[in-house]
Amino acid sequence: MLGLYPVWYEPNIGSGWVIGFIATIHVLFSHASVGGAILFGWLANRAVRKNHPEYIDFIRRYGLFLLVFSYVLGSITGPGIWFSATIANPKGISALIHSFVWMWATEWVFFVIEVIGIYLLIYLAGRVDAKTHTRLSMIFALASVATLLVITGILSFMLMPGSPDWHQTGGVLTAFFGPNTFAQVALRIAFMLTITGVVGGIVAAKIEDPAEKSHIARVLSAVGLIGVAGTFLAGRWYFQTLPLSALETLTLRSPSTFSTMVAAAVGLSVLWFLLSAAKPGVLKVWTASFMTVAILVLGLAPEETAREIMRKPWIAGTYVYANQTIGRDVPALGIKSDLPLMEEKGVLATHPFIPEALRNPTDADRTEAGRVLALTLCANCHSLSDSGIRPLKRYFPAEADKEAVKRYLGAGLHRGLTSYMPAIPLPDLDRDALAQYIAELTRSADAASNDSDTQEAAR
Ligand code: HEC
Repeated sequence: MLGLYPVWYEPNIGSGWVIGFIATIHVLFSHASVGGAILFGWLANRAVRKNHPEYIDFIRRYGLFLLVFSYVLGSITGPGIWFSATIANPKGISALIHSFVWMWATEWVFFVIEVIGIYLLIYLAGRVDAKTHTRLSMIFALASVATLLVITGILSFMLMPGSPDWHQTGGVLTAFFGPNTFAQVALRIAFMLTITGVVGGIVAAKIEDPAEKSHIARVLSAVGLIGVAGTFLAGRWYFQTLPLSALETLTLRSPSTFSTMVAAAVGLSVLWFLLSAAKPGVLKVWTASFMTVAILVLGLAPEETAREIMRKPWIAGTYVYANQTIGRDVPALGIKSDLPLMEEKGVLATHPFIPEALRNPTDADRTEAGRVLALTLCANCHSLSDSGIRPLKRYFPAEADKEAVKRYLGAGLHRGLTSYMPAIPLPDLDRDALAQYIAELTRSADAASNDSDTQEAAR
């Protein structure tokens, strides 16, 4: 039997979009928090050394804001990613847990320190001497960066194991640490500073004393501009660590609007930082909130989506495909590829959750069997309805009949000839059912194609 789970299918949206939506918001909250922590560490030191007691007050205000913005909302969306990703791809999450359970445990320890730290920073501001407050700020900053490091190592493993021979050798650290891990940590820290410069504006806007407000505004602008410059440099480093296949998938398959969006995010942030440093009067709760949303939509959303796209066809460790099949042997973990069994016996025969009646479909239920196969094998990346992620019906020409689709399934898809799609080798019985379903799906698209968009995509 293949180790496959039932599929979570979200018609019209696709499970990927659900996770993506939750994750992008979560990244904003968590980045604002870690960036804020780094800023607090620095400010607290300056507060003592250069005698700036107003910095402590700003840390208290910003900390209170982060407590709700990052900690409450972040703690809701964080488990949200877990829940949605676990239902969407139990095998992918399982692969990560099997390698990294102690890494996650480590992260939770640091996270607990962070949560306690933020409360202490807020409630002890002005109540303990400045030196003690500085120490707390430093602990908070280090714990925050530690959580970032742990999560980034795991994210990086999702793209590829740290060491290229990890599949043979195994080992947590070789899975975790690779050139991409460090470049991604640098990139995220730099981007966090940009986010901190922007989100901090929401708090700074409320400072009444004009001199203090303009001073803090300039600090935030400097932090933000350092962040932008750092993002640019770390971004170049990051791209150098990507494997060729990821770069290829990224260039071929990411929407052309992405680079424009990111350029707009950078341009807008630089303008914003210069303007708010020169004229702190522009710093209002609504302008800073608007900039926060702009960074989220123009910067974070395309960045996180691109990271998803370039990982295709894998979901984790270059051995679990996005459709949950194991695409290669991992001798170090005693894991065997699903593909030989899939090719020989087929998915209808070996998927534990296929209804018995569909295992050997008759003419009457062949299309239904094909639909179950499409749900299992394709729906993680292609929605089966008209909208959502890469609707499957748009990828076959309207005139493709069952035989033509079947030939495609037996050729390109069988061996995985593209860099972005998994190899899906199926025996004749499965191919026949899937082809019949796809041909009917495409025909139904054809019948409904007053929609010029559909026709264009089909071409
Ligand atoms: C790992 C994700 C993934 C899975 C699983 C997947 N595809 Fe794809 N597929 C893609 C991507 C990405 C593209 C490129 C789409 C684009 O650029 O718009 C694609 C493109 C295609 C194309 C266009 C031709 C081509 O080769 O580029 C066809 C046809 C197709 N997929 C069929 C299928 C079928 C049928 C299944 C299930 C048996 C399937 N795909 C499963 C990711 C996937």
